[in-house]
Amino acid sequence: MYKVGIITASDKGSIGERQDISGAKVRTIVEEHGYEVVFYQILPDEKTLLQEIMQKLCDEYTVDLILTTGGTGFSMRDVTPEATIAVAERMVPGIAEAMRAYSMSITKRAMLSRGVAAIRKSTLIINLPGSPKAVEESLTYIIDEIKHGLQILKGETGECARG
Ligand code: MTE
Repeated sequence: MYKVGIITASDKGSIGERQDISGAKVRTIVEEHGYEVVFYQILPDEKTLLQEIMQKLCDEYTVDLILTTGGTGFSMRDVTPEATIAVAERMVPGIAEAMRAYSMSITKRAMLSRGVAAIRKSTLIINLPGSPKAVEESLTYIIDEIKHGLQILKGETGECARG
């Protein structure tokens, strides 16, 4: 069972001014797909803090997957992609491209999410947008393919079925 860390980036959520429906939505979706959530935290939109926690989840908790929600837009406080890039060793552009491409068939505003995906050591990090609707749409679209990526990352399979 793959281990997941969930980070909600939200200034208001971190001081209890907003209920974190998006983080709960991420949890529900991954649990339905057989992942184990081992870490969940609401953090303010502070790059250094987001970076520190992501690094800890990769290097100490050795989670297989980090899913962030929020902080991917244009607000001056939105820094989740920058924190992710700071801890990244390898970028995974296809995952963010896929989420945006699918999401734009629902709302063209999906182009406003700057979310990225990256690998640090053997952890995959994916930024999801902040609204519960966007989480549902983005995550359900990519979740089946993520598992195959994790299997390759962990060296559990080198084979991609063809045909
Ligand atoms: N993606 C999907 N699938 N559905 C959505 O409704 N909303 C967009 C975008 N991505 C949306 C979406 C909007 S309106 C914004 S501003 C950006 O995500 C950034 O969101 P964030 O700053 O909460 O991360």
